[in-house]
Amino acid sequence: MSRTYLITGAASGIGRATATRLAAQGHTVIGADLVDADVVADLATPEGRAHLVARTGELSGGRLDAVIASAGLAGFEPRAVSVNYFGAVATLEGLRPLLAAGTDPRAVVVGSAASVHPHDTAITDAALAGDEDTALAAARAAADRGEGYAIYGSTKAAVARWIRRTAATADWAGAGIPLNAIAPGTVVTPMTAPMLAGPELRKVVDETVPMPLHGHARPEQIAPLLDWLTSPENELVTGQVVFIDGGADAVLRGDRTW
Ligand code: NAI
Repeated sequence: MSRTYLITGAASGIGRATATRLAAQGHTVIGADLVDADVVADLATPEGRAHLVARTGELSGGRLDAVIASAGLAGFEPRAVSVNYFGAVATLEGLRPLLAAGTDPRAVVVGSAASVHPHDTAITDAALAGDEDTALAAARAAADRGEGYAIYGSTKAAVARWIRRTAATADWAGAGIPLNAIAPGTVVTPMTAPMLAGPELRKVVDETVPMPLHGHARPEQIAPLLDWLTSPENELVTGQVVFIDGGADAVLRGDRTW
């Protein structure tokens, strides 16, 4: 049966591959992004987040069957806090009422294997407290200390923790809406192209995200997991951060967690 999806970050990489896959199956996909999208919205800003919710409501007729929050930024930019955490949470919270009106509603956010890297708790704590100004200030302070590399993983750790604390609540599990994250390893997309272009940075990427199974992924290899997690077949998986990382998490965290 045809379903209606909202996908952020739909103009590129993982979001685009997933939108293409779902549209090919006959589903209706509303894409959101900075450019080239049905909903043009900057998720780093409160205005952009509000526009996403309002315009998606109009385009969907007030009901969605699934939300996939894929928009994100890498690099050492403090702005990643606003897009990767606050933008993603605003997407999920803002569109939840439309999901509640849908059929077999599901939601997934694209986290990252980098969520298990050492991170800056000043950023994650402020993010989880819903304090964007303090989280941004902590990210700027990290960048000023020469620790800008910790910003991205911190945003993704905060997303993972938000999923863990939110999925089982009345608004989500209680309303019959599975809520999960996925944690990809290194995927070859415009986001990672600059990091994979030269041997030195590529070596750093491969040391921090080792992928013994098949190496770097293509976005088309990530899309099937997002497809399944947001399908009616997923009745019981919720509150999970599903690693799709060629074994990176098993290498990095070993048997201390599962
Ligand atoms: P990408 O750069 O190809 O796509 C990201 C999309 O997000 C772009 O179309 C971009 O315009 C959009 N976006 C960025 N800032 C935005 C904003 N302020 N408002 C609205 N849209 C915005 O990157 P990719 O690789 O497809 O990344 C998708 C998600 O996957 C991100 O959340 C990323 O952190 C995550 N991820 C990517 C990995 C990789 O190796 N490529 C690994 C693990 C996670």
